[in-house]
Amino acid sequence: MSKPPENAPISFFLNGSPLSLSVAPGRRVVDLLREDLPLTGTKEGCGTGECGACTLLVDGLPMLSCLMLAAQLEGRNIETVESLEKDPVGEKLITSFEEKGAVQCGYCIPGMEMTALALLRKHPEADREDIRKGLSGNLCRCTGYVKILDAVEDTAKNLTAPKEMP
Ligand code: FES
Ligand code: FES
Repeated sequence: MSKPPENAPISFFLNGSPLSLSVAPGRRVVDLLREDLPLTGTKEGCGTGECGACTLLVDGLPMLSCLMLAAQLEGRNIETVESLEKDPVGEKLITSFEEKGAVQCGYCIPGMEMTALALLRKHPEADREDIRKGLSGNLCRCTGYVKILDAVEDTAKNLTAPKEMP
């Protein structure tokens, strides 16, 4: 009888802290986060790369954690929705989503916010059309998107508003 494949060691940065663990071959990132760590902010919707609910940032870029293997995290810098409140742009996103009432069931919101975070870090001046295109891979079955777009647009305006002189 053949031996089962062995776990492999991986090391990466998770929300700013170094982490080393051992993962089974074929373990998906979304399962590693939600079940092993457990960081349940990242959601699994479709599990097939269609909905964007599982989006996190890998080296600053939005990636679908349902399609990534844990072994692919080796040496990378991972940001999940749990880090949002400690990030200056993320903090503004949280406030805008609350103020604009952009959340209904909330299932899509972690993925929406992480995609918006990457977009606004790169393009703080993004307009509504840029935001609409940027979020086009993130599906929401509750809100009709208007309030979500309002929230991200509001964050962008806050980021680029001229500061008042003291
Ligand atoms: S759960 Fe990953 S894209 Fe839907
Ligand atoms: S708020 Fe329910 S899926 Fe978007």
